[in-house]
This record gives sequence, C-alpha cells and structure tokens, in this order.
Amino acid sequence: MTIELPMAQRDMMFQILSNSEPLSEDKRQEVLDSPVFGTVFTDHMVDICWSEKGGWHRPRVQPYGPIPLDPAAAVLHYGQEIFEGIKAYRHDDGSIWTFRPDQNALRMQRSAKRMAMPELPVDYFIQALRELIAVDGDWVPSAAETSLYIRPFMFAKEAFLGVRPAKKVAFYVIASPAGPYFGGAVDPVSIWLSTTYRRAAKGGTGGAKTGGNYAASLLAQTEAAEHGCHQVLFLDSETGTNIEELGGMNVVLVYKDGTVVTPKSDTILAGITRDSVLKLAEERGHAIERRDVGIDEWREGSASGDIVEAFACGTAATVVPIGQLKTPDFTIGSEDATPGELTMSLRKELLDIQHGRIPDVHQWMMRLDQ
Ligand code: PLP
Ligand code: COI
Repeated sequence: MTIELPMAQRDMMFQILSNSEPLSEDKRQEVLDSPVFGTVFTDHMVDICWSEKGGWHRPRVQPYGPIPLDPAAAVLHYGQEIFEGIKAYRHDDGSIWTFRPDQNALRMQRSAKRMAMPELPVDYFIQALRELIAVDGDWVPSAAETSLYIRPFMFAKEAFLGVRPAKKVAFYVIASPAGPYFGGAVDPVSIWLSTTYRRAAKGGTGGAKTGGNYAASLLAQTEAAEHGCHQVLFLDSETGTNIEELGGMNVVLVYKDGTVVTPKSDTILAGITRDSVLKLAEERGHAIERRDVGIDEWREGSASGDIVEAFACGTAATVVPIGQLKTPDFTIGSEDATPGELTMSLRKELLDIQHGRIPDVHQWMMRLDQ
C-alpha cells in the first residue's frame, strides 16, 4: 500500500491509500465486458468518519475491503443505516459523468434526518464521488447501456447497546460496474402484489433510503419469486387499497389520453429517475398526476383499455416496462406483453441524456473526472 499526497483544491483533504493489489487489467476488462449488477467491486472505497465531537473528519480513499466493526456497533443491533444509489456513465469521448448528484446528496440528508444521523454536506457527497472516480475511473464501462453503479452509505458505528442515536458514524462509497438490473434485453417485468406484507406506514421510514425498508421487503420479494415475478408491489398500510412502490423502484401508469399517473405519499421513496422521466413527459405535453392510485383503478383501467402502459423506474433498473401484475385474486396484462411506446421512448431519452448522446438541456449531468 502506498500513501500519496492528498488531492489539492478540494473542500476536504482526502488521504489516498492506493490498493497495492488491484485487479489485473485483463480481469477488470472481463468484468467490464459483461457486468452483473452488484457482484464485483472496484479497487478502492471512500471512508469518512463522523463523531459528535469532531464532526466529519479523516476523509480517505483506501483499498476496497472488509470494514473493521465492533460487535456492539449500533448498526448491527438497531439498523441505523442509510444509503444512496447513483451511476457514473462513460461518454463517447471517454469522459465520465453522473446524473443529478445534488438530488442524491439532498435525499441522503433527508434520510439522515429521519434516521437521527448527521447530514453529510452536499459538497462532501459530490467530492467523495469525484475522489473515487479519480482512482477507479478505469472501472467505468463503455459498452452500450453499462455504467458504474455507485453506492454511498452511512451507518452507526458507535459500540454502545443503549438505544439512542449513535455518536459515531461512518460514511463509505463503494462502486460496481453494472449492466441491466434484470439482465438481458428490455423485456417487460412481472410484478407480484403483496397483500400480506406492508413496506411502510404513515410516520414510519418509508420515505427514507434506509436498510430496514429493504429488509422488510425481502419476504414479500421471496413470495414474488415463488409466483414467478421479478419484483413485489406494496400497498399502503392504512387502507390496503392504494399502490405505493416496488421493493426497489417507483411505479408509473400511462393512460390512453396520455396522462401519466404515479402514487404520491410520504411513505414512498422520492425517486430521482421518476422525477426526471415525469419532467421529460411533461415537456412533451403529457399531463402528470401525482396522487393516490387505487389497485382497483389499475385493474379496471387495464380492463377497459384506459390504462395502456405501466413501468417501473429507479437508478439501478432505469426504466422497465411492467408486462404483468399478478395478485392472489387476479392478473393484469399477459406474459407476452410488449413494452409500451411511451415507456420505451422516455427510457431512451433518459439514457441518451445520461450517456451524453443528446444535449443535456436540464443541466442534470455533472462531470466527475476533472
Ligand atoms: N423506490 C425504492 C424503494 C428504491 O429503492 C428506489 C431506488 O433507488 C427507487 C424507488 C427509485 O429511486 P431513484 O430513481 O432515485 O433511484
Ligand atoms: C437503486 O436503484 O439505486 C436502488 O437502490 C435500488 C436497489 C434495489 C438496487
């Protein structure tokens, strides 16, 4: 391991500890040629500490590897943890860009607030991405529709079994080359409606990106898989009649008259992908409605032909058509459903912006490698 000079002209002075045993160029290329989501990680990671006394301190980039953790660390007992998901894209000229990182940074602050954790300043969040790309930029793949998935996360590392907000927290950033989340081409995915389990309750943590929400979704996700479905759709916990979101994606419906509808609730994660595609749809003249959406509305609208498309969206998944929704009582759509026209064209426009193939008129992109 070699210690290099900290990077200058940055808000935080990062110490750079280089990995003395990085993956060989050949092996890395093999991974980049056909990345499988979330399986192989780059050579380095960002590590920043926070303590009640010292604030944010000791920022560094270090070799990717196990994190030393006291068995009494609060995260292991009470789940005080939050995370983000964001991608880096290689453009045709070799430059490396990311998409709306300020929005991820702000959402992480909101998640931190809800989970009684310190808020990482937006600038530090963005600088952490830059520092990682400065050492691991070669890991950003260039093949069509590939990217480097970046996972910033923060957890309570104080060794203390009393139940209160931790006084010591760690922030890390790891990254992993990514291809399509569901693998293969853009085939419509099938969704299972969970009528047994709820993901989030009013006043709970559904709007925060915290591990517990995902833990709570796993049994329902297993149920979905048992019914041959890719993902699970949750209903609201109060009435059990309105759709909320999938385990790791937002849901959007498209009406015959062009209206685009998505559930609105504090218990849903405010997706940056959804916000972006709805903006693109709005600019094309589509009416956008953010409101309660009943499962009956989806069922009846599909049967009458009023609802013509449904899609899921999120950073990892991008935009994916929903082919079929299965429930214990009825099924919407068919196994051989074809992707919706608006779904595919919004998907294309978003990916074209992210991959630098069309002008970024919204100034959503930020260059990371300079
Ligand atoms: N909902 C949940 C539960 C998620 O995990 C995600 C993924 O991050 C989303 C929605 C979509 O959010 P975004 O588009 O910001 O990735
Ligand atoms: C993301 O899309 O970034 C997520 O965090 C969702 C997760 C299921 C991979």
